[in-house]
Formats: sequence, structure tokens, C-alpha cells
Amino acid sequence: MTMRIAVLTGGGDCPGLNGAIKWVTKTALDPLLEHKRTVTFDVLGIKEGWKGLVEVDPDDPRSLAQHVLPLDEEVVRTWDRYGGTNLGTSRTNPFNPKNDRSDKVIENIRKLGIDVIVAIGGEDTLGVAYKLHKLGIRTVGIPKTIDGDLVGTEYSLGFDSAVNIIMEEIDRLRTTAGSHNRIFVVETMGRHAGWLALHGGECSGAYIILIPECPFEMDRVCELLQERRGREIQYSIIVVSEGAKMGGIQEFYKDDKLDEFGHRSLGGIASRIADEIERRTGYEARYVILSHLQRGGSPSARDRLMARWFGIAAVEMIMNEDYGRMVSFLHGEITSVPLKEVIDKLRLVDVDKHYDTDRYNGKRGTL
Ligand code: F6P
Repeated sequence: MTMRIAVLTGGGDCPGLNGAIKWVTKTALDPLLEHKRTVTFDVLGIKEGWKGLVEVDPDDPRSLAQHVLPLDEEVVRTWDRYGGTNLGTSRTNPFNPKNDRSDKVIENIRKLGIDVIVAIGGEDTLGVAYKLHKLGIRTVGIPKTIDGDLVGTEYSLGFDSAVNIIMEEIDRLRTTAGSHNRIFVVETMGRHAGWLALHGGECSGAYIILIPECPFEMDRVCELLQERRGREIQYSIIVVSEGAKMGGIQEFYKDDKLDEFGHRSLGGIASRIADEIERRTGYEARYVILSHLQRGGSPSARDRLMARWFGIAAVEMIMNEDYGRMVSFLHGEITSVPLKEVIDKLRLVDVDKHYDTDRYNGKRGTL
């Protein structure tokens, strides 16, 4: 029996996606494993996430070439070294209540002869995989989000590469911040969860770290900066999540547009903080919004390794008929969890455990 695996990437891109696609493909097509298995596989890449399955016309060869890419070991050989996703991605939601195209997707899955879908993505992409699973489509998920906010796993692809980028950029900023005695406010991604800001800020020794889980007051930020002046070096680095809440309110949106999952683009809180610091303290302040730089470049060693392990595990799950589940990394082991447990929830920073609400920084000890 031959099973057809379709693999796709959805939502924001990040380093590690190409590695996961590669290792799904290599593991499924591994000639040394073939004789141990009762099934053989072929692998199709679906371009631009769920959009590919919405838009493809399986009866039209030109449309097929546009939306589907057959994958084999030769095609994916070098992919794990590169960031982004060679299959492309989108934020298309086939179950968008304003434009439901789920019937079309199911019809196309059948017409393309797809037996199982490996969806690599965050909460939105995996939410679609779960809904399809409930409608009888076999799906397996692989976790990806630089925000690190997926529940059911302690690691999601892209996070480590993004933290490394934050650290490298802050290292760069320090020399200019020091030369001018300036405060630098560095804005990271992190819509709901502060993991990127917290880990990025902690590993680069930021003086203040502001995260969505703990609303902050500008009075306290300024007080902390004033306390420090003259005590040590004259400049300070503040790291802030795009979703942090000044005075308890999340109000820094780029525009009014909503994506197909109902999200608005965040951004701009760093500029407001820098302005407030200058206005309230007279200290010179500048800001940097790291934005999509955090999703760029090649994957870190950890992302390459996790992409490999996740890709291999996804094929194992297909062999074991563990559908409707997501590969996960828990307590140092690769395992899996039901997709049902992953959606409509968020993995947030536990403030009591990890965050000092007085110092606005990572916790030092248990006090
Ligand atoms: O996928 C989540 C994320 O990394 C958020 O932190 C950020 O708000 C969003 O992506 C921005 O993505 P884009 O601009 O690509 O839509």
C-alpha cells in the first residue's frame, strides 16, 4: 500500500520550517526503512499553507504546478540549512466564518489522493488541522512559533533562532548606546506571550524587560532608570514585547486590518516608551523594532536539530496511525499530544515563577 503525505507550512515563517519538511520527506522515503514497513509513501509539498489547498484545481496541470510540489530526497537535500519556507506560507483560514472554503479543501484533498496532511504551524494552522481531523481528514501537526506560546510542547520551531537574533542585535546596540549614553528600547515580537522578550532580554543582560503577562507603568520604568544613573554604566537596554501592556492597555497596533484568523498587526510600543522616557526624565532615548528580522536568516543549531526530530516523529506518528495529534517536546523527550489540547489556549510566562514584577526583569532567585 502507498500512502500520500501532503506537507504544508502556515502562519508566520521562521527558521526551522525547511528542516522539518526535509525530515518528513527523508523519513517517509528512506530506502533503508522501506523493507521494515508495511506501507510505502510519497510526499507532496503544498505551497502557501492552506491557501494552496483552497486554490488548487487538481484537474488543471498549470494550477497543480503552481500549488503543489512533489518532494523527494533530491529536492529537499539542502533545505535544512536555509530559513524561511521553500513551500511558502499564508494566513489563509479555510474555516473563516466570513468566507468558509472548508468544503473545497476537503474536495481537493480527495482529488489529490492525499491520505494524510502534516501541518507545520502555530495555533491558527494547527486549529485548521484539528477541524479537518474532526471532519475525517487524517492530520498530524508540527509546532512552530517564534512566540513560543503553543501549549502542549516545551519547544516550537523558530524560537531559538529568534532569541539568538535578539541577542546579537542587542550586542550590536550596546556599543552605540554606550558611546552616546543613551537608553535603547528594543521591541521584539510576542503578541500574547513574553517568552521572546524575556529570554532574549535575559541572555543579553537587558536592564528592563516588559512582557504582555505583566502590565507595566511608565512611572516605574523611569524610576528604575533614574535609580541606576550614576551607579553603573550610563546607558540602559530595555526589551519590550510588541504585546506588552502600558498601564494595562494593549493599544499599539500598526493598522486596523484583521487577518483571516481575526488578528491585528501589533507594533510601535517601543517608540512610545522612548518618547515617554525622554519627556519624563530628560534622558536621551532611541528605539529599535526588530520586527521580521527575528524571523529571518538561517536556523540555529537547536532549530535544525528540533526540525529533524519533529519531522522524523511526524512520520512515526503516521506509521502508528496517531492522527489528530501534534508532535511535541516535553521533559526532554519527543512525544505527541492531541491537537484538541493545543488549540484555543496559550502558553504564557508564569509571572510568579519567572518574572520580577518590581524590577521588571527575569526573576533572580525565589524572593
Ligand atoms: O506568528 C506570530 C508572530 O510572530 C507575532 O509575534 C507577530 O505579531 C506576527 O507574527 C507578525 O506576523 P506577520 O507580520 O508576518 O503577519
